[in-house]
Amino acid sequence: MIDHQKLGVAIPASVEKLQSLFGDAPEVAVVLGSGWAGAASLVQDAKSLAYTELPAFPQPKVEGHVNEVVVGRLGEQRVIMLRGRAHTYESGECTGMAGAIRTLKAWGVKLLLQTNASGSLRSHMPPGSLMLIADHINAPQRSPLVGEPGSGRFVDMVGAYDPELRRHALQLAKNEGLMLGEGTYCWALGPQFETAAEIRMFAAWGADAVGMSTVPETILARHAGLKVMGLALMTNMAAGLSAEALTHDLTLKQAQASGERAASFLAQLVASLKDVAL
Ligand code: HPA
Repeated sequence: MIDHQKLGVAIPASVEKLQSLFGDAPEVAVVLGSGWAGAASLVQDAKSLAYTELPAFPQPKVEGHVNEVVVGRLGEQRVIMLRGRAHTYESGECTGMAGAIRTLKAWGVKLLLQTNASGSLRSHMPPGSLMLIADHINAPQRSPLVGEPGSGRFVDMVGAYDPELRRHALQLAKNEGLMLGEGTYCWALGPQFETAAEIRMFAAWGADAVGMSTVPETILARHAGLKVMGLALMTNMAAGLSAEALTHDLTLKQAQASGERAASFLAQLVASLKDVAL
């Protein structure tokens, strides 16, 4: 459960730090998932700050992992990028990003644009494809809002992935000649990959992609009053759908292979939000 007493101190302290270093909040925050890291190097006039300086942000457990925010601009759109997220499979807690997301909201951010690596359930989205997340399935039925006080916890999740912003992203992809699928993302707790039977079940439920992140953050962001968008990079066909054995290495290799195209579309998308009311 969220430690409200701790966050009650940590969030204002984190906002103050961000404000004093970077000034007013950018409207757009991006969570960089696996495969999307290259986008951070496209940020212009970039300044960074380690999560260790932001008490409401997840504190890295493994040294050597990049856990920092990068603030700057893409074109004329200011942006904060979050490099590193807490996954539920690390601790069993799905609240790991609560402090970070509430800090972004309190600072003045309007949109949380999430990115991730996913397994594809659809042959028309082979590894390397990008999918705009239209909706999600919370398969573990876990919520970061358990124990949250107040009626605000009964969050309406219909249209959680902002319909207008989705239309905008699809139009941009079309203009750029980029294949961008749209579909439903299914959250699996992990860290083990799914069984073939689980994937058949998710497909029957209407899932198009499967991954181990994003859903808790979407719930937290909608609760906080942030708009949400999501982009998934297909790194593999989901369990049982290809002859290739699923390994973390395979997903990382594919993420690297298509990372540049993913990062460049992400940068274009963020820049294009300059003309959109958020
Ligand atoms: N399953 C779950 N998470 C993933 C996958 C997958 O096939 N690929 C990348 N992240």
